Amino acid sequence: MQTRITELFGIQHPIIQGGMHYVGLADLAAAVSNAGGLGIITALTLKTPEDLAAEIKRCREMTDKPFGVNLTFLPTVTAPDYPGYIKSIIEGGVKIVETAGRNPEPFLPYLKDAGIKVIHKCTSVRHARKAEKIGCDAASVDGFECGGHPGEDDIPNMILLPRAAEELQIPFVASGGQADARSLVASLALGADGINMGTRFIATREAPVHVKVKQAIVTASELDTRLVMRPLRNTERVLNNAAVERLLAKEKDLGENLQFEDIFEDVVGVYPRVMEEGEVDAGAWSCGMVAGLIHDIPTCRELLDRIMAEAEEIVRVRLEGMLD
Ligand SMILES: Cc1cc2nc3c(=O)[nH]c(=O)nc-3n(C[C@H](O)[C@H](O)[C@H](O)COP(=O)(O)O)c2cc1C
Repeated sequence: MQTRITELFGIQHPIIQGGMHYVGLADLAAAVSNAGGLGIITALTLKTPEDLAAEIKRCREMTDKPFGVNLTFLPTVTAPDYPGYIKSIIEGGVKIVETAGRNPEPFLPYLKDAGIKVIHKCTSVRHARKAEKIGCDAASVDGFECGGHPGEDDIPNMILLPRAAEELQIPFVASGGQADARSLVASLALGADGINMGTRFIATREAPVHVKVKQAIVTASELDTRLVMRPLRNTERVLNNAAVERLLAKEKDLGENLQFEDIFEDVVGVYPRVMEEGEVDAGAWSCGMVAGLIHDIPTCRELLDRIMAEAEEIVRVRLEGMLD
């Protein structure tokens, strides 16, 4: 299948693996890229720019296909060493960067001068338009259903994608709620040029996380996510568990007085415990509603081959058949 996204990134299938803290390491990125998609290493999971450089090298040893690096610009007081991470990306010869979080504008000149293509992930049409205006090559449009940070507008992809198609000139992928061939074909029909998946890729054989995390996603239904940190305007969609219930009770009790410190223990330092140790109830960790559509733990190649084969069948048999 050829779309503006496969052409832009030089990949076989219009399927991207979004950056994921403690999940998007070289093992997964290489597996996705080897399967014909675009794998992405998550920079901030690597503690230092030197660690990122080593991870990029490790990824290159596992694949000769294009892969990218995610740079998440956090709303923190003490910023990570973004210039250092960008240096590692440029020196590592990476040609694709997924930016997310805050406006990437201050860092764009460095990336563009190095010939890097930038896809900015955003949760609203206005942010996607801004990304286009400042020179991003593509956008990843994250709907309300997504795992992670859906923003504060609460617009699901059924509306957000066609709205993005109305407003954007640059190519964009649908992100959030994407799991299979049905998602891909629907997203293309709504105007996107491909899909970006997070949660679906955690439940793959190559995802470098504890098997209990994969099993938790397979077991979960579409009813099992919750939105946390809404009162702090830092909304995150997470898998429900005892710690999340506790966190939500604090949010309810404290109302407008809620401070980040009140929920610190439920959200900080959680990822290594969950992803590496398999303590799936350790705190709040991102997961999309799409968990309800995830029923197995395939290899990345099995997953992408299945999506592409079934997408062709949906288009050629189911949809074309309706026109006969
Ligand atoms: C466990 C997890 C961790 C994530 N970490 C990040 C991150 O560090 N940076 C980022 O830009 N997006 C992150 N995301 C968001 C994903 O890249 C992607 O946009 C989102 O998962 C899409 O929704 P889906 O889960 O319904 O596929 C994360 C998502 C999950 C599930």
